[in-house]
Amino acid sequence: MRRADRISPFIVMDILKEAKSMEDVVHMEIGEPDLDPPPGVIEALYRAIRERKYFYTPSLGLWELRERIAEHYYDYYGVELSPSRVVITTGTSGAFLVAYAILLNAGDRIALPDPSYPCYKNFAYLLDADVSFIKVDSISGYKIRPEHLEELKDIKVIHITSPSNPTGTLYDQQELESLISYCDERGITLISDEIYHGLVYDKRERTALEYSQRAIVINGFSKFFCMPGFRLGWMILPTEDMVREAELIIQNVYISAPAISQYAALEAFDYEYLNHVRETYKRRRDLLYQELGDVLDIDAYPDGAFYLWADVSRYEVDGYTLSSKLLREAKVAVTPGLDFGKNNTEKYIRLSYTRDEGTLKEGAKRIKGYLMR
Ligand SMILES: Cc1ncc(COP(=O)(O)O)c(C=O)c1O
Repeated sequence: MRRADRISPFIVMDILKEAKSMEDVVHMEIGEPDLDPPPGVIEALYRAIRERKYFYTPSLGLWELRERIAEHYYDYYGVELSPSRVVITTGTSGAFLVAYAILLNAGDRIALPDPSYPCYKNFAYLLDADVSFIKVDSISGYKIRPEHLEELKDIKVIHITSPSNPTGTLYDQQELESLISYCDERGITLISDEIYHGLVYDKRERTALEYSQRAIVINGFSKFFCMPGFRLGWMILPTEDMVREAELIIQNVYISAPAISQYAALEAFDYEYLNHVRETYKRRRDLLYQELGDVLDIDAYPDGAFYLWADVSRYEVDGYTLSSKLLREAKVAVTPGLDFGKNNTEKYIRLSYTRDEGTLKEGAKRIKGYLMR
């Protein structure tokens, strides 16, 4: 099979294209924050341009930013970390490519939850690696438990997301610890995508670094920090050897992450502003859950991120058909569950709450109006 033929489309991007060509659509398909970055970020961006800081940076990233991220781990989680383990990447997407390239040879196997963020598998396919999908459902809150892994053979890497896209569910301390010890005992590398950290509403999120010296943690500036177009992420690698391998790959693949974004990101850790971001999304989650909880089956409570994962099968329609009808007949764009895997996902849609409360109320009204017609 041609490598390119293994790559599946990211359906939400097609929906977004169609929805953008229409007027008066309520956008609940978009997976990026609508709020501005912390104000200091914008100032620092202008300053970087004025001071001509738009040249390549070292491939591993600006040392000041690596230090700032290491400090963030201490301030936010109480974890001490050497900045030399922090690698700056072009979004978390860049980090997935580099981490997978370090860990997976052709034919090696990575385990991914189904449903999960659709792009992970495609990074594996680009590297000619194989994927084992682990069927997760509302019983485990869409999280992988060690029991899920018993039947699987020859897994080199397991990749989880907490809180998750598309379900918003969060691994608690005990769940994370038991998965990490399972991996550590068997020499499996755990990759923990923590990009939605910060957007956790009633609980406290834990980083895999609190429990493991071997895990790879990936995070970035696109969600909580509201900087998706800055294309900036980071990863924490366990060993100096891996950092050197990452450096060699980055030198060749993208040279360095965008310089002006890195200077701007030095001002991103403005916790007062970020608390306002979290509170805004919490209010929106509560509102949408309240508005739609009775008409849609939201079978796992969304602890974080900015999504609701809803089973629509009681309306005797699949999620893909419903998404098309909602867009064309009710002018609300949502994402069909099919985007996130094959495990029962045809029954689901994903709704994002990345719009203001008035818009979300209008969206909920249109959805209810359509379903109750
Ligand atoms: C779980 C998850 N990881 C990673 C990404 C990619 O983000 P970026 O490359 O902007 O860091 C997304 C984007 O929606 C996501 O939902």
